[in-house]
Amino acid sequence: MSSFSIDAGRLLDRLRHLGATGRDAEGRLVRLAASDADKAGRDRLCSWIEAAGLEVAVDRIGNIFGIWRSEAVQGMAPLMLGSHIDTVIDAGIYDGCYGVLSGLEVIQTLKEAGFAPSRPLVVAAFTNEEGVRYAPDMMGSLVYAGGLDVAAALSTVGIDGTVLGSELERIGYTGPHEPGFLKPHAYVELHIEQGPVLEREGIAIGAVENLQGISWQEVTIEGEANHAGTTPISMRRDAGHAAAQVIAFLRHRAKASNTPTVATVGCLSFEPNAINVIPSRARFTVDLRDPDGDRLKQEEAALGAFLDGLAAEEDVIISLKRLARFEPVKFDAGIVQSIEAAACERGLVCRRMTSGAGHDAQMIARMAPSAMIFVPSRRGISHNPSEFTADADLVAGANVLLDIVRELVEGK
Ligand code: GLV
Ligand code: MN
Ligand code: MN
Repeated sequence: MSSFSIDAGRLLDRLRHLGATGRDAEGRLVRLAASDADKAGRDRLCSWIEAAGLEVAVDRIGNIFGIWRSEAVQGMAPLMLGSHIDTVIDAGIYDGCYGVLSGLEVIQTLKEAGFAPSRPLVVAAFTNEEGVRYAPDMMGSLVYAGGLDVAAALSTVGIDGTVLGSELERIGYTGPHEPGFLKPHAYVELHIEQGPVLEREGIAIGAVENLQGISWQEVTIEGEANHAGTTPISMRRDAGHAAAQVIAFLRHRAKASNTPTVATVGCLSFEPNAINVIPSRARFTVDLRDPDGDRLKQEEAALGAFLDGLAAEEDVIISLKRLARFEPVKFDAGIVQSIEAAACERGLVCRRMTSGAGHDAQMIARMAPSAMIFVPSRRGISHNPSEFTADADLVAGANVLLDIVRELVEGK
C-alpha cells in the first residue's frame, strides 16, 4: 500500500474556503459563470496556484490553468487534471471544486516532494461547466477541445441578458491564450459521484468508464391570454395547461420505459404570469439523458411527436430551440484500468460506473485520452446545499488521483 499521500488538511481547508467564497446575501452559494462571485472564486484559486509555485495562464474563454513545467520537460504534452469552480444556484461546495483543488493539491504535493515528472503537470478550471447562466454546459472545455468556436461562445447571451464575453472581460478573465494551446497527453478528472450508487454499495472509488448523452431543449408554447373567470374551459388556448401535460408526459414515459432514461423540466415561466389570466405563453427547458445514443434520439423524437399532437389538440403553437446536445462518451480503457489498480493498491473497494452528470472530461475526451474518478455522495444528493462527501472519502479519492498521476507521467 502506498504511504506517499497528499496534504489532507490543506485540501480540505481550501475546499471549505472556496465553498465560503461567492455566497449571496441569503448565504447561498451561487457562483454562476463570469459573475462577481465567480471572480471571487477565480481570484482565490489563482492565489493558491501562485502560492504553489505554478504559472497561471488564462485562455480566451476564461479557462484557468496552473502549470508546473520544469526546463527538462519544455515542449512535452502535459498531463492535465481539473474540473470547474462555477456552480448552480444554491449549490453545495464539492461539485467541480473538489476536482480542481485535488488537481492542485496533487501537483503541489509532488512538487514539494521533489518529484521530477517526465512531462508538465497542469490543473485546469474550465469556464461555465454548469451552463446555468449561459448554454451549453461544459462550455469552456467544449471550446478548449475545438467543439465550439471561441467567438461564438463569447457572444452567448445568458438567462439574464448578459453576454459571456463582456462579463468575462468585466471580471478580468479573458486571457491571451488560444483555447487548446496546451494539448494534453491525457486528462483525469476527480469528482463527487452526485448519485447514490457508491454509498448504497459501500464502495469508496468509482472508475468511470462512460458518460451518458445529454440533450437540452427549450420549449415555447403560445396560447391566448384570457379571463380566468369568464372563459369556458372548452374555449381556452391555455399555454400553462399544455406545459403541464408535457411535464407529465416526460415523467410517465421515462418511468414506464424500464431504461436508464431520465427527463427533467428545471425552468418554467408563464406570461403574463397573473393569477386571474390564462397563460398566453409558457416557456420551459427539457433535459433528457441516456447512456445509449440511439435511445436518446428516440426520446427526442417521442417528445417532438407528443408536442405536434398537443399543438393540434390544445390549439397552441409550439416551438423548440436546441440549447445543448452531447453524445454519450466512452473514456480511455487504459486509464480506467489504472484507476482500478490504484484503488486496489490502496486497499479501497472500486467499481466501474457510468456518469449520470455531464463533466468537462466528456469534452476533453475529444482531444486526449481521458477518464474520471468518483467518490461517494451522501444520499446521492447534489446541485443542492446539502451535497456532502465525508472527508475520508475526499482524501482517499485525491490519493488515488496522486497515484494515477505518478503512473501516467512516469516521474522519478
Ligand atoms: C452538470 O452538472 C450537469 O450534469 O448538468
Ligand atoms: Mn461538476
Ligand atoms: Mn454540476
